[in-house]
Amino acid sequence: MKGVILAGGLGTRLRPLTNATSKHLLPIYDQPMVYYPIQTLVRAGVEEVIIVTGGPHAGDYLSILRNGRHLGLRHLEYTYQENEGGIAEALGLCEDFADGGPVAVILGDNTTDADIRPDIERFTEGALIFLKEVHDPERYGCPVFDPADRRRILRIEEKPRDPRSNYAVSGLYLYDARVFDYIKRLKPSGRGELEITDVNNFYLDDGLLRWTELEGFWSDAGTFESLYRSTVFWAEKHLAGANGAAAAAGADAWETIEGR
Ligand code: G1P
Repeated sequence: MKGVILAGGLGTRLRPLTNATSKHLLPIYDQPMVYYPIQTLVRAGVEEVIIVTGGPHAGDYLSILRNGRHLGLRHLEYTYQENEGGIAEALGLCEDFADGGPVAVILGDNTTDADIRPDIERFTEGALIFLKEVHDPERYGCPVFDPADRRRILRIEEKPRDPRSNYAVSGLYLYDARVFDYIKRLKPSGRGELEITDVNNFYLDDGLLRWTELEGFWSDAGTFESLYRSTVFWAEKHLAGANGAAAAAGADAWETIEGR
């Protein structure tokens, strides 16, 4: 399966940092944010990726991502979103890249240590979304479950004032080629964007949406609070790994990190 990383937008919630560069190039611990979703795809066996950038700092991506070989990619393509038209508009730019096949889509500020390889390998058609239980579902796409059947989603609401579940629709999605037809049918939402939640609801209405729960850590990093949370998680995970290696070598973890 091919992969799509959506890294457009102006990152206004992270100003003044995003006055100087793109949100997705800000650091999460020791790497640019965008490395993490790329690594999620590479771990899952995805080797061909397109990245959608936007805004005034799109050129910065080239010096960091280059041709993607150093990140384990076989092929890396770039495209540019002219306006702030939303996630679904950005995905619509990738139709030629997808070339009639399915795509694994990840938002450039979403990081997870979950292994989505089995989901990618099993995927045949329709859409698969990944849910995660959160304390602040009003910040996300949020599923409404059938009270009579908790496995069944009735609809997905985008940033609901009164969330009907404690789940967020994470920014990881598997779509078949129908996604590009659905995107063409979208109308801008109240915030003037083509919403990925509307795409997911189209799949739902056609009986083609499945969901699974994301295992392990997941967070976006579009606000200072979530950027901090992501940074702490990845720093601690790294340190735990270094501690393990250090213990095996009989050394101190920080010596291992500093010496690497
Ligand atoms: C976007 C989507 C939302 C999803 C979230 C995941 O939100 O619109 O449905 O739950 O990504 O990170 P936004 O980036 O607008 O906060």
